[in-house]
Amino acid sequence: MSLLIKNGRVITATDDYQADILVEGEQIVAIGKDLPADNAQVIDATGLLVMPGGIDPHVHLDMPFMGTFSSDTHETGTRAALHGGTTTVIDFVLQQQGHSLQEALDEWNSRAAGTAVGDYSFHMAVTDFNAATKAEIRTMIVQEGITSFKTFMAYKGALMIDDRQMTGLMQEVKQQGGMVTVHATNGDVIDYLVAKHLAEGRTSPLYHYLSQPEVTEAEAAARFTDLAHYTGCPAYIVHLTCEGALNAVRNATRRNQRVYVETCIQYLTLDASKYDLGFESAKWVMSPPLREVKDQETLWAGINQGLVNIVATDHCPFMWQQKLMGKDNFSKIPNGHPAIENRMELLFSEGVVKNRITLNKYVEVACTNPAKIFGMFPRKGTIAIGSDADIILFDPHQQHIISAATHHMNVDYSAYEGWEVTGKVKTVILRGKVAVDNGECLLPSGYGQFIRRNQVSAKI
Ligand code: URP
Ligand code: ZN
Ligand code: ZN
Ligand code: ZN
Repeated sequence: MSLLIKNGRVITATDDYQADILVEGEQIVAIGKDLPADNAQVIDATGLLVMPGGIDPHVHLDMPFMGTFSSDTHETGTRAALHGGTTTVIDFVLQQQGHSLQEALDEWNSRAAGTAVGDYSFHMAVTDFNAATKAEIRTMIVQEGITSFKTFMAYKGALMIDDRQMTGLMQEVKQQGGMVTVHATNGDVIDYLVAKHLAEGRTSPLYHYLSQPEVTEAEAAARFTDLAHYTGCPAYIVHLTCEGALNAVRNATRRNQRVYVETCIQYLTLDASKYDLGFESAKWVMSPPLREVKDQETLWAGINQGLVNIVATDHCPFMWQQKLMGKDNFSKIPNGHPAIENRMELLFSEGVVKNRITLNKYVEVACTNPAKIFGMFPRKGTIAIGSDADIILFDPHQQHIISAATHHMNVDYSAYEGWEVTGKVKTVILRGKVAVDNGECLLPSGYGQFIRRNQVSAKI
């Protein structure tokens, strides 16, 4: 079965032109002017932007965390992602301390395989680096196609590793051709501040924010960057939120070190005033917390400076009932917010429409860089002959309002309720199949494939 997308305006990270795109099977086979339809199903893209499917490299689906599970499964989460124009996600496998990486991977495979609607890959979160774990790194990279290893410098007592483990992991991952990624905040300082606030009777969500000041992130970002420089390990900081942390990366560029940086859509669009709403603020309890308007400006500038390479979501949804676990103690509110479905449209509306970034930059940070940095390019992340036909048709003018009443994520509130957005995903194609058309998902659960990733990331 072939598809012919006619008369669209094709946008990649570098190009902008009118063309038709011919898809055969799962791939793009021709791009040109006035391509003949022959027996192909024709999709008219007149007036629409034709862009690569989005890639969100930071999502937590069905993840055991803080005494509960994130509320989107691989099925509901990838389906919601497709509705929002994201065709591939990278989810986090969490090693359980005292257990192997393989056990964790087996568990995640059993949840995602046969249920995911959209394509997915995995990062491996190393929460217990020891001799046995060290021996598994090569297997993960070579046999499983999992080439990025996530670390936590916070969540002390649960996920955090110390600098001894970090250094050992970096040395091994560098040796085997992978990358270390990090949640970079200082777990000890946060722990101290949390305990102090609670001991003095301050229990509301505001104190989640006040327990993670900018210095906790800036210090950890600098320490991680220095260790990556010392070990020579390819390095990536997830969900970077603030000026101090970005300056740590900026400093490293002076010695010609490259540390990849991801921010998330919430840190570009929301600020800490969300913590002034009493317990309702629990909707935005995430780590790191939302920051200041000056940090938003820094992050938008960082995108244009090429210091911030990716805009992800850190999608980690919890139902309101789950958020209520922390009603009397902010440290028990499950951390995370829902955004997997909103990222592409919000970034377009706040970024491109408001003239903060160009259309090419939009595709670069939402689609192409995630594919390049995480070893999926050029199969994913661009529109080119031979690439997977992961394509979105996007109306740049259509306005709509974000609401939990209409979203597809399995969560009973929206962090962006009532936001007016300009630009809407109209049609989504995943590996040659129409996945979403005018608000309807046409793919069955189980269509999503696990994407093995390459050992050496392309340079960007
Ligand atoms: O609050 C967050 N970010 N929840 C998900 C886990 C993580 O730290 O990424
Ligand atoms: Zn075990
Ligand atoms: Zn994190
Ligand atoms: Zn996360």
